[in-house]
Amino acid sequence: MCRHICLHIQNRRRIKGFLDKSIFRLIEKVHNIVDHKLVNFLVHYVVNQKMLKKIISCAVVSCVFFGCAQKEEVSMQKSQKLEDWKKTICYEIYPSSFQDSDGDGVGDLKGITQRLDYLESLNVGCIWLTPVYASPMRDNGYDVSDFYQINPLYGTMADMDELLQQAKKHHIQVMMDLVFNHVSNESAWFLESKKNRTNPKSDWFIWKDPKPDGSAPNNWRGIFGGSAWTFSEERRQYYLHTFADFQPDLNWENPEVRQALYDIANFWIQKGVGAFRMDAIVYIKKPTDFRNGAPDAADGLTLIHTMTANSAGILDFLHEMKREVFDGKNVFTVAEANGILPEDLKFWVGDSGVFDMLFEFEHLQGSDIWFSTKTRSTKEIKQAIFKSEKETAKNGWYPVFFENHDKPRSVNAYFPETADKTLAAKAILTLLFTLRGTPFLYQGEELGMENVTWNSIDCFKELNSKSQYAMALKEGFLPQEALRFVQKYSRDNARTPMQWNAEKNAGFSSGKSWIPVHENYKQINVATENVNENSVLAWTKKLLDFRKNSEILLQGNWEPILENDENIFAYKRTFGGKSIFVFVNFSEKEIALEENFMQKAKQIFSSYGDEKKNAIRPFESKIFAD
Ligand code: GLC
Ligand code: MG
Repeated sequence: MCRHICLHIQNRRRIKGFLDKSIFRLIEKVHNIVDHKLVNFLVHYVVNQKMLKKIISCAVVSCVFFGCAQKEEVSMQKSQKLEDWKKTICYEIYPSSFQDSDGDGVGDLKGITQRLDYLESLNVGCIWLTPVYASPMRDNGYDVSDFYQINPLYGTMADMDELLQQAKKHHIQVMMDLVFNHVSNESAWFLESKKNRTNPKSDWFIWKDPKPDGSAPNNWRGIFGGSAWTFSEERRQYYLHTFADFQPDLNWENPEVRQALYDIANFWIQKGVGAFRMDAIVYIKKPTDFRNGAPDAADGLTLIHTMTANSAGILDFLHEMKREVFDGKNVFTVAEANGILPEDLKFWVGDSGVFDMLFEFEHLQGSDIWFSTKTRSTKEIKQAIFKSEKETAKNGWYPVFFENHDKPRSVNAYFPETADKTLAAKAILTLLFTLRGTPFLYQGEELGMENVTWNSIDCFKELNSKSQYAMALKEGFLPQEALRFVQKYSRDNARTPMQWNAEKNAGFSSGKSWIPVHENYKQINVATENVNENSVLAWTKKLLDFRKNSEILLQGNWEPILENDENIFAYKRTFGGKSIFVFVNFSEKEIALEENFMQKAKQIFSSYGDEKKNAIRPFESKIFAD
């Protein structure tokens, strides 16, 4: 409609020939602007260009009357351009724990290839592999020693090529994890850099002299606990590490470092990967002054995140990377962006941004210091997600996610212990597949996998659990309390093996698994859930099949309902004049739905699996159409 008005105005111009050129160009520009913006634009001209008053005000009126009604037409025009990655499902694989093919107890690339049929059956169009490069594996691959080699634990480069080829046949893209903030201290780059102060790579990391008393340059604490500085005897200098001491930060100020990183990304594009996840990207730029921060715990240190995340100038580096790597290539990107607020999204994603999507953290349970983490209320989670939905409607696109390899399982994280776990899992999946954006499903989430139930700190494997435990003790907590924080937030919660069936090791491995299989694997697994129509997996499949063919869910507008309710997540999706209504109850309290609404609405799904009832019951997920 609006487009027609513009064309109409252009024709008038040709006929009358009195519109000045700049106005004409501006009018041309508005072809793709949504209706309300066009109205504002036109009103502006009514005010400023008296001469045009007649023509334009006529256009304004038409636009006000027809524009709203035609909103959907505008979306439909856009819909034809919706890229595949906006319509698909991304599935995160933690390779060590997905499928072991050779009985060594560790998942591997061949194992992933064997499971492509399963992934395709879930309509997965992209698999994100957490790092599979050569690595000493002290942070399970996030300590890369060589980006050009595959970790022998996972297989060979030939296995990787095979996976890429087979994935393509299953219409699945492979997303690689680029860990560009740091590398392993065993990488050739670091080994050379630390030799002395004059070698060719001496400036590839962040080296600083000790303070006169020999202590670290400042009081920053690494994200995995302890000082963010480690002393090297060879250079008699400290190097900076945002994470563990074996993960030295790269010096992005050095153009050679940046070029080396771009070369790596381009190498993987050449190999045929279709997407990248950018690890810990907010830390690559350091502030110019390395000053102390106010201590935030009994150790007298301050979390490095508060001092370095999103430092001024970071976007210059990222724009350069975009130019050198992503521009003009058929790849999409999602960046881990802890601390970027929805209002800043416009600088990071969308037409003038640097990535396609950003993983925000504001809606997640947990933070960098576990003993002082406050559990977020349903309302806070809702507000964070709703804010992102609103912002990404203007800029970029939202990657919807609740779980990943660093976070606890959502059935434990978002619901009281008394909640029915099947309903809880379905509730999260309902949001995941019906919010506006690309869903990122984490392995096992589709089954309702749960947190570990380990009762001793010795059972925990990942390094952050150990350091958070030590930090809590230092802060004065009792061992039982410190253990409780670990149980709640440990990254191991998400890292137990994928549960495929009720057989040995849940079908994950024929050998001894590197990490224990969850004891609930006999009930929660793919094979068992596949034949139970009320299972979490059955719910996943129902929703995914529905989503696949629903333009409303794929690209419809998103609008909150019951925005101030403390317990219910509710929103409306609209496209082509039709709507879908989603209600998810995060509490035990039941709420009634209006008679009026119930008369018009058709129930499509209820996680209770029964007929239409005019209430949202405890932990129920319900979807209606008009
Ligand atoms: C990211 C990863 C996490 C890793 C860290 C350091 O946060 O998701 O697993 O330990 O970066 O690379
Ligand atoms: Mg193996």
